[in-house]
Amino acid sequence: MTVKDKVVLVTGANRGIGQALAAEALARGAKRVYACTRQPLAHPDDRVTPLRLDVTSVSQIQEAASQVESLDMLINNAGIMLRDDLTDPAVLERHLAVNLFGTYAVTQAFLPAVTRSRGAVVNILSANALAPLPLIVPAYSVSKAAAFSLTQSLRALVAGQGVTVHAVLPGPVDTDMTRGSNVLKASPESVALAIFDAVDNGEEEIFPDPASAPIAARWRDSVAKLLERQLAQVAPVSS
Ligand SMILES: NC(=O)c1ccc[n+]([C@@H]2O[C@H](COP(=O)([O-])OP(=O)(O)OC[C@H]3O[C@@H](n4cnc5c(N)ncnc54)[C@H](OP(=O)(O)O)[C@@H]3O)[C@@H](O)[C@H]2O)c1
Repeated sequence: MTVKDKVVLVTGANRGIGQALAAEALARGAKRVYACTRQPLAHPDDRVTPLRLDVTSVSQIQEAASQVESLDMLINNAGIMLRDDLTDPAVLERHLAVNLFGTYAVTQAFLPAVTRSRGAVVNILSANALAPLPLIVPAYSVSKAAAFSLTQSLRALVAGQGVTVHAVLPGPVDTDMTRGSNVLKASPESVALAIFDAVDNGEEEIFPDPASAPIAARWRDSVAKLLERQLAQVAPVSS
């Protein structure tokens, strides 16, 4: 699906990867970009409609959904990453609230609109959905692995309605989230560009930066991907 003349919604659109995704959607000729943020946002491009959206707020999700009539692409980008060592359940709960349940709730609210347009859901996850970073961000990794499973199931559930569901699995990107880390990081702009290119190409798993890109070919032929395809065909037995 190309973004030209389409309606796109991005959560966490005020900074980092979300801001770059909104800018790239505009550059590719999107008809409208709903830029969802927790704080009020002013944007010079009149194709941008700011929407107040904390992804953990049921009322804000309902209010935002009521303002969006048509939607071609939902991009679940909002996320948090806190250092931990799995000793504090509250830290795990915070990650799950935003990265898993936030993604879930926003998707449920906007799925009817995306389905009407036979559009796309794009979940910004992390390479840590495939393998955790246990000594630095284990709770974050748990939440991204869970959100990856959510993405895979949603893909199978809505495939028959013409909706595509994409998992984005980036390595390190140069945003506030990775400030202070010395590893090599991709720019959010390059990552946004690669994400839209990959959605155009119909890629289910998207590895949009030099650190994650080498995983792509091996992932497509992996046991895990094969199993995902096989299990997606297993239907309930009617009694
Ligand atoms: N940077 C990386 O290396 C990297 C790598 C792989 C995946 N990712 C993923 O990419 C996504 C974007 O990350 P980023 O690097 O751009 O991080 P970032 O610069 O820290 O931006 C995070 C964004 O998420 C928003 N957000 C956080 N909690 C929210 C909530 N409860 N409701 C709504 N919005 C919320 C933030 O809004 P506020 O400004 O209001 O806080 C901000 O817009 C995340 O899902 C992240 O896990 C990042």
